[in-house]
Amino acid sequence: MAAETDVPAYRFDTQRVRAGYEPREHNQAVSPPIYQTTAYDFRDVEHARRLFSFQEIGNLYTRVGNPTVGVLEQRVAALEGAAGAIALASGMAAVSYTLLNLAEGGGSILTSPYLYGGSADSFKKVYPKLGIRIDYARNILTPEKLAEEIKADTKAIFIESISNPNTVLLDVDAIARVAHAHGIPLVVDNTVATPYLFRPLAHGADLVIYSATKGLNGHGNLIGGLVLESGSFNWQSERFPQFSERYYTLRDSDGNHRAFPEVFPDFPFTARIRFNYLNYFGAALGPFDAYLAIIGLETLSERLAKQSHNAETLAEYLSAHPQVAWVRYPALKDSPSRALCERDFQKGAGGILSFGFRGTEAQREAFLNAVALFHYHVNIGDARSLIVNSPQTTHGELEADEKAAADIPENLIRISAGLEDPADLIADLAQAFKRANG
Ligand SMILES: Cc1ncc(COP(=O)(O)O)c(C=O)c1O
Repeated sequence: MAAETDVPAYRFDTQRVRAGYEPREHNQAVSPPIYQTTAYDFRDVEHARRLFSFQEIGNLYTRVGNPTVGVLEQRVAALEGAAGAIALASGMAAVSYTLLNLAEGGGSILTSPYLYGGSADSFKKVYPKLGIRIDYARNILTPEKLAEEIKADTKAIFIESISNPNTVLLDVDAIARVAHAHGIPLVVDNTVATPYLFRPLAHGADLVIYSATKGLNGHGNLIGGLVLESGSFNWQSERFPQFSERYYTLRDSDGNHRAFPEVFPDFPFTARIRFNYLNYFGAALGPFDAYLAIIGLETLSERLAKQSHNAETLAEYLSAHPQVAWVRYPALKDSPSRALCERDFQKGAGGILSFGFRGTEAQREAFLNAVALFHYHVNIGDARSLIVNSPQTTHGELEADEKAAADIPENLIRISAGLEDPADLIADLAQAFKRANG
């Protein structure tokens, strides 16, 4: 269950097809088997006793751990250089279990205005009712001023590395420095970038979140999520009393109760999610979905490289189009994120871009109804190209002032570039623009 960087000498492209899996340990099966089982037999009563008291780590019940899910955890941990990982049933489970594990019992999370709509909605609707305040940073683009926004009860800074839908890049290194100077961790939702384009832990982040539903898997055929930890953050401070709490279930062989960092010193954060939140709230990833995610990871590098290329090609085409008011893509020369893109995203700027449709609302809707090759739905990171009017769908629950703060104007259209020939994608957009014009 614990994630290890088990083949540290190998490079990224080797790890994404090999890490976390050894055929010798699985009847020589080359492709990781789907362990479609609810539970695991105990060898004897002593074995059960040892597993239940954490004196031995092993398979017990698929809600808290499964060998196929474990391969996914270990493989993504290897790609991230993480000390620990936990896979969950969705990206939203990864976000919520992380925030609850950080701020249970009360406190606040300092976040960026540039977020996925589902995260932003939950911040507004759910967390305040659980005693967790979400503060929106005014200075996320100027980290040197961010310190003044960290309060005594702030438990973490939460950001997205490439924001959904408007592809804002943030200075993760600088934000991590500010967080650490105040004894709080930096959490990065790296869903859009994937570890192929950006590895947040290498830039100072402490926790990384994925919706595995998106580019990590890349085939639009599962819902899943992951949380990863660096293993280097010190959780045993007054700000995080939950990590010093001693549990009966973590007792040692003499019956002494222990805290998570004592039992799991390398990955206390994900262990605490596993044995508290996953165990009791139960958003477990199924082994078949884990298997699909593992297969998707095998082509991660090729997909993200091609999607970045396609997105850049589309961004350039759209930039020159008279029916386009503006284009947001970090690799464009006039992008406010261009400098960070050159510094941190040397393999590509990702498959997502957005543009402002120039025209009436009716023309914008006619344009969306006219696309034929692009799929029209609310996913990203698929092998197929997708288009959506985010302000009216994925970000439709934001109020006008929230959309303004997040820089999501009503005419924004988001594209997630797939793996098709970019000439066909451009031809589809061209015919849709023509039809929108009447
Ligand atoms: C950046 C980001 N984080 C989290 C999520 C939530 O993931 P899921 O749909 O797997 O719950 C999404 C979904 O679009 C996302 O784009």
